[in-house]
Amino acid sequence: MNQLFRRKQYSESEHSSGLLRVLGVWDIVFFGIAAIIGAGSFSSLGEAVFRGGPGVIILYVICGFACGFTALCYAEFASRIPQAGSAYTYAYASFGELIAWIIGWALIMEYSFGNIYVAFSWSDYFTSFMERIGIHIPDYLTCSYTEAKKAFFGGSENQELLNAWKSAPLIGNLKFIVDVPALVINGLITWLCYVGVKESKNFNNIFVLLKLFIILLVIAVGVAYLNTDNWFPASADTGVPSFMPNGFTGVMSAVSGVFFAYIGFDALSVLSEETKNPQKNLPRGMIISLVLCTVIYILLTLVLTGMVDYRKFDGIGDPLAFIFAGSNANVPWMEFVVSLGAIIAITTVLLVFQMGQPRIWYAMSRDGLMPKKFMTIHPKHKTPSYATIVTGLVVGVPILFTDKSFILDFTSIGTIFAFVLVCGGVLLLPAKEKLKGRFHMPYINARFIFPVTFLGGLFFFYWWQPEFFHNLTDWHDPAEGEFRISIIVYILINLVLCVLAFVRNLSLIPLIGLSSCLYLLTGMTHNNWFWFLLWFAIGMIIYFSYGFKNSKLNNDLNGDLN
Ligand code: ALA
Repeated sequence: MNQLFRRKQYSESEHSSGLLRVLGVWDIVFFGIAAIIGAGSFSSLGEAVFRGGPGVIILYVICGFACGFTALCYAEFASRIPQAGSAYTYAYASFGELIAWIIGWALIMEYSFGNIYVAFSWSDYFTSFMERIGIHIPDYLTCSYTEAKKAFFGGSENQELLNAWKSAPLIGNLKFIVDVPALVINGLITWLCYVGVKESKNFNNIFVLLKLFIILLVIAVGVAYLNTDNWFPASADTGVPSFMPNGFTGVMSAVSGVFFAYIGFDALSVLSEETKNPQKNLPRGMIISLVLCTVIYILLTLVLTGMVDYRKFDGIGDPLAFIFAGSNANVPWMEFVVSLGAIIAITTVLLVFQMGQPRIWYAMSRDGLMPKKFMTIHPKHKTPSYATIVTGLVVGVPILFTDKSFILDFTSIGTIFAFVLVCGGVLLLPAKEKLKGRFHMPYINARFIFPVTFLGGLFFFYWWQPEFFHNLTDWHDPAEGEFRISIIVYILINLVLCVLAFVRNLSLIPLIGLSSCLYLLTGMTHNNWFWFLLWFAIGMIIYFSYGFKNSKLNNDLNGDLN
């Protein structure tokens, strides 16, 4: 049993892997912006606004807050363990091998599956951009088979999807429907990652500058078309003007899409073996990029919901272009510029995630949990070449048979789960000596602050949103039953955390990170949990049939067998 929780001891002078150290702090910020702002703001923001109305801003703040505290936890780990591998490496040092494997497995949901959603979004914008310059790509070559099928048999009104199903050529009995732009961009990005981080970095920096320019332009031009009445539409229940027309429940139902927009800052920690002075540059870079992106999201949401009534965003996949369409502000040149900008923005996200996944596998392979092939470093390009190609396949193949909304939920639940374990891991770390030039998470005793904040927050919420707690113990309402169960479990876990904080003088920052990420999990449905647990079970089978036996710690005297 102890073997399952054997921990890896990392020494700071541990042999370097052969990857080149070329990245400075602003490179990290650029990679951060590249990873964070992408399909989440250019695509899933539309659906989020439709569900929550202008009040979805509150969810952006909650997610930004949760990610900020989590980023500090990542920074703390990154400053102690300057090794590639992200949350996986950190869990190996604090929780031991089994949990490390679980996280490594969950991170595939974040990096590879996340990139499937991003590739689909890229394809949507690419297709509409081509349409705007007068080039029509047949519908059956621009969407996934599953999406078209669902639309046709589900009675959707989306004309492109219906047309794809009706016009697709037949191969035997099978309709030929393939998202070609998504496949092609995945191939190109895989190639770029294969040839090396230096080339990717230069490519990345130019594209990030362009992306920022376009987003600021959307905000600047959009401000001129604001109608502040749109920020207080009629409530769906009472008809009274409200910032949250669908209540807080409506806001929380947007959690996958909103959280997805924040995923990415953690991808930076996997660059630690390619960063100069990682102990200093990595935490700084992560936090600067996170703060910048949070401000941008809030402004973007304000502009979006101020320009157009939130109800009009139903099914809109290109919301930032949509607000300038003829039926809204009617600024054709902005529509064109924004579509082009989205293609660029989304490309940079693909790049960072596609670079992150092979580096996690590289670390897992180095520890013996994955086959040795995954740590092959290309002799000339100095990149994890084999793992890069496998990543390309793991992203590319599901493009053929999955759909966007499933992938969005799946990615978000896996990532929040990994964040929960990272924050929890920091709570378990022993105190360390303070060294100059290192990031040190400030220790604030949570003993009184956490219980008072949590219970105070609960009472405030009860006063502010009483219907949220309405009939908390009535399990029979099929619409809200599952939501209530999550909230009750969340409250119970936090009461335990209050006691632990009091008894053990826990550190406040990771505790708030943990609590806020757990809160985000309450927005997940039972269906999300089902798929997540299935993925988890497959991971367990692989671990026990391969990783457990082949782990370097299996007979390693350095392993801390406690
Ligand atoms: N945060 C990234 C995006 O929005 C995943 O595309």
